[in-house]
Amino acid sequence: MADRRKVINCFVVGYMQDIILVGYGGHAKSVADCIERQKQYKIVGYTDLKKHDAKYRYLGTDDRLKEYFMQGITNAAVCIGFLGRGCIRERIYKRLKEIGYKLPVIQDPSAIVSSSACVGEGTFIGKQTVINAEAKIGKMVIINTMSLIEHECIVDDFSHIAVSAVLCGQVCVGTSAFIGANATILQGRNVNARQIVAAGTVIR
Ligand SMILES: CC(C)(COP(=O)(O)OP(=O)(O)OC[C@H]1O[C@@H](n2cnc3c(N)ncnc32)[C@H](O)[C@@H]1OP(=O)(O)O)[C@@H](O)C(=O)NCCC(=O)NCCS
Repeated sequence: MADRRKVINCFVVGYMQDIILVGYGGHAKSVADCIERQKQYKIVGYTDLKKHDAKYRYLGTDDRLKEYFMQGITNAAVCIGFLGRGCIRERIYKRLKEIGYKLPVIQDPSAIVSSSACVGEGTFIGKQTVINAEAKIGKMVIINTMSLIEHECIVDDFSHIAVSAVLCGQVCVGTSAFIGANATILQGRNVNARQIVAAGTVIR
């Protein structure tokens, strides 16, 4: 029995690809936890400006990302969260793509994503989120814990939908926008590119 378990574990580990966390602030803890729960990638460590008290290996600053790519680590997850400054995530995204990195979608197993929804590369889909039918989520978006994106919403690249925010049906959110925690956007409304919606507000 013990031997059989060993073989199964090897099989699972054998299929996990390596991934690097880029940035190790607060948001990184959520992303890393979802990656572990997703069981598709093995976290080899993180890059950041400085070493943190972390359970993962410090791999140096972002300047070393090319070196790791050349060593065969081809997946990265951008773990920098943001409050209305999507430009940092955009800059890092461009740099990673220039090197050749793949940016997989990180989706917690508890999230519900409709089969008719589309989700772009590098997007993070946190715990207990719902992305409903025909929604279109761009690349490098953060759909944070317990947020709800209703049918046919469009969320453009690099935007952040914070925890427990609700987008009713057919809402359009422009690029690099920030929708604060627990905010509600009523159906059919638009949020402009780079707009910040304060936590708890209702856009009517
Ligand atoms: C909107 C926000 C960005 C403003 O932050 P700020 O620029 O530091 O502004 P301040 O806190 O100095 O507040 C400025 C004014 O806006 C008001 N205000 C701030 N946040 C507000 C909110 N959520 N709802 C209503 N009024 C708000 C303040 O009361 C203050 O009013 P005053 O000038 O009459 O005193 C911030 O309050 C916010 O909502 N951040 C989002 C937090 C969040 O969702 N985090 C989720 C992480 S997953």
